[in-house]
Amino acid sequence: MHIKLNDKEQFILKKISNASETLNVKAFVIGGFVRDKIIGRATKDADIVCLGDGIELANEVAKLFSPKPNVSFFKNFGTAQIKIDEFEIEFVGARRESYDFNSRKPVVESGSLEDDQNRRDFTINALAISLNKNDYGTLIDPFNGINDIEKKIIQTPLPPLQTFSDDPLRMMRAIRFAAQLNFVIAEETFEAIIKDAERIKIVSQERITDELNKIMLSSKPSIGWDLLSKSGLLKIIFPQMMALHGAEYVDGKGHKDNFYHTLEVLDNICEQSNDLWLRWAALLHDIAKPITKKFEEGHGWTFHGHEVVGARMVPKIFAKLKLPLNEKMKYVQKLVGLHLRPISVTKENITDSAIRRLLFDAGNDIDDLMTLCKSDITSKNKLKVKRYLQNFELVQQRLEQVEENDKIRNWQPPITGEIIMETFGLTPSKNVGIIKDAIREAILDGIIPNSYDAAHDFMLHKAAELNLYPV
Ligand code: CTP
Repeated sequence: MHIKLNDKEQFILKKISNASETLNVKAFVIGGFVRDKIIGRATKDADIVCLGDGIELANEVAKLFSPKPNVSFFKNFGTAQIKIDEFEIEFVGARRESYDFNSRKPVVESGSLEDDQNRRDFTINALAISLNKNDYGTLIDPFNGINDIEKKIIQTPLPPLQTFSDDPLRMMRAIRFAAQLNFVIAEETFEAIIKDAERIKIVSQERITDELNKIMLSSKPSIGWDLLSKSGLLKIIFPQMMALHGAEYVDGKGHKDNFYHTLEVLDNICEQSNDLWLRWAALLHDIAKPITKKFEEGHGWTFHGHEVVGARMVPKIFAKLKLPLNEKMKYVQKLVGLHLRPISVTKENITDSAIRRLLFDAGNDIDDLMTLCKSDITSKNKLKVKRYLQNFELVQQRLEQVEENDKIRNWQPPITGEIIMETFGLTPSKNVGIIKDAIREAILDGIIPNSYDAAHDFMLHKAAELNLYPV
């Protein structure tokens, strides 16, 4: 097996080889690095396993570099890490591990290379390459991981129920690798996930969400979400998503399956953008469809207000999934809430003011919103798709025209709350909000021009209606 290493990787691995020779311990590069090198994926870290003390080896390796890198270590785990430029190398002594049934905390003892390979999650992650002088570069592949890489199969080295019971996060990892690498999970391994799905409950939400984010950042996340659904994991970790499944029929009228529609939208957006949060917005855009669904006589299925209800669900979902509750969440919430607006302005006779309002509400996220809307077109009817896209093209042109004239995207009305309070001698109160909103609406509706003087004049009139006069 020929593995292509770049000069820097060769240089670093040779140094590790020299250090292990000095200490007279055997060392191997193992796991993700070897897997990714064989596949030809980019790597930025490597795990080194040695038949001895990993911290000692890391210290010996560090001595061979100038400037000498810092060695950070965790004595309890017997692991050490050094960083050479952007390349992170982790050192650990080979170990044998067993897990207590109710926790993820392993009981660890030192072991042979074979023990260490046995305890790994998948055959494709158990490959090792010798760094020892006598057989430097030899691949040690006890589970025929090479064959699984070639056949694009994910399976556990030991009976899958044992591997998953050792660490249930591995069920998520199997699905994440399937999505990232476009591999298939072996039948026996997948059946074990179905059987063991409930055990995901002992894994921390942070670890689960790390895997979800990796699925989201893969080139076709639908692979991962579909497997999560089919394995039974999804209904435990994200029931609202599971609820999107299914198409109901009344009087022969059905609606599309919103689960698969959502996955299509997500994959569409992934072709346009690598942004994790735009991808989350695509995943969540229809999340409230199941709870807003109604069958209306003579009309069919409706999901009125699903964008508003969906936007309200976003903070709860983010909190449960331990996604950040910051401006990223607000961004997702905004896109979910606005995702029908560009469609509503594709109708004929749309006024400039509707366009201005859309620009004002979306602000700098208008382009992302348009990307989401275009990705939301999943009709199989080519003519319809063409027509929708043409409509969006027109909206895009209008948006550009109005923005050029009115500069609404990053706009704030010329009269602030402070000016209103100062003018009328008010403290923060309801009337300040009423006047401020009225000025903004008048400008967006084109009733008055977007200038300080016009807004000031309008403010005086609006205030007079409320019996307020300048002090
Ligand atoms: N591993 C494992 N079980 C886990 C996590 C990790 O057996 N729950 C092993 C695998 O052999 C894996 C190695 O530890 O290859 C390193 O783990 P990690 O860095 O999490 O994964 P990588 O395989 O390197 O992949 P990625 O960097 O994409 O997460």
